[in-house]
Amino acid sequence: MKSYNIAVIGGDGTGPEVVREAVKVLEVAAKKFKLKLDYTNYDLGGARYLRTGEALPDSVLAELRKFPAILLGAIGHPDVKPGILEKGILLRTRFELEQYINLRPVKLYDERFCPLKAKKPEDIDFVVVRENNEGLYTGVGGIVFKGTPNEVALQESVNTRRGVERCLRYAFEFARKRNKGKKLMLCGKTNVLTYAFDLWERAFHEIGQKDYPDIKREYAHVDATTMWFVKNPEWFDVIVTDNLFGDIITDLGAMVQGGMGIAAGGNINPQGTSMFEPIGGSAPKYTDKGVINPLAAICAGAMMLDFLGETKAAKAIETAVIKITREKMKSLAAGKMGYSTSEVGDLVAAAL
Ligand code: IPM
Ligand code: MN
Repeated sequence: MKSYNIAVIGGDGTGPEVVREAVKVLEVAAKKFKLKLDYTNYDLGGARYLRTGEALPDSVLAELRKFPAILLGAIGHPDVKPGILEKGILLRTRFELEQYINLRPVKLYDERFCPLKAKKPEDIDFVVVRENNEGLYTGVGGIVFKGTPNEVALQESVNTRRGVERCLRYAFEFARKRNKGKKLMLCGKTNVLTYAFDLWERAFHEIGQKDYPDIKREYAHVDATTMWFVKNPEWFDVIVTDNLFGDIITDLGAMVQGGMGIAAGGNINPQGTSMFEPIGGSAPKYTDKGVINPLAAICAGAMMLDFLGETKAAKAIETAVIKITREKMKSLAAGKMGYSTSEVGDLVAAAL
């Protein structure tokens, strides 16, 4: 029997509630597919920070490195200044564990939940490969003459050939393995960001031409990409982009696929510890009310199994989620599902 050690970080707000349902479903999958999943819980997040003054102790980060995968609920607390937990926990883990890919599938499971007129599940099925370790997220920059009329703030986008290349290669490989449209679109801003996206674009074509001639290469500016997400989502197959553009377009992607209640993502280090999360955040106002949608966390659990190589189990969870989404859910929004958080977990578990 294959066994896997999983680190679980419920985190803040509704994080623990949705992770509980994800684990419930993972356990059913484990039984069905004869896997053993051992969970270790880590108390991280705003509450711990407020209690101890530490966001992520070095010793905890060192422990996290030993797991093949981490399941994360959400990070973000209303009583902690924005940036502290995000940088201190989420970004630090992404960077230090070299989770250089943020993989975000955008897939519509039921047309009732699409805000776009007349779009069907077959029209909305693409994946964003977001660079996850560089760009405007590194914290390079600074402020001088703060608080004076001469104040200057600089925030620089870091794009290394190595970082860009490994991201592009992952995206090309992904498009090949996915075997759907066999195309990869670079989303950038070559008309204005003429240094950063010059590097991206050259690397994109060099690598594509040399090593992935079977994958069709396309390019779109980020502003046009957002327009097409709404107008022609069926054009997309796999999109690769930098950290900030990826952040922005995947929130739009989440809406197009039915909302934050269903959107999951993986912070991936193909050779190391990867971290899977619902991308919706901690939703403080819904905390402990039993109304938050756990499907995104359940889908994150499925992505985790897929990463671990348990593709059949992952697929089975997704199939159960699709069935419940189509046959049971009244809405994917918090409080409107027609079921409580744990009932949705039960429904998926039963379908599985
Ligand atoms: C996300 C989030 C994070 C990001 C925040 C919380 C730092 O928005 O995972 O998309 O910007 O990457
Ligand atoms: Mn985001």
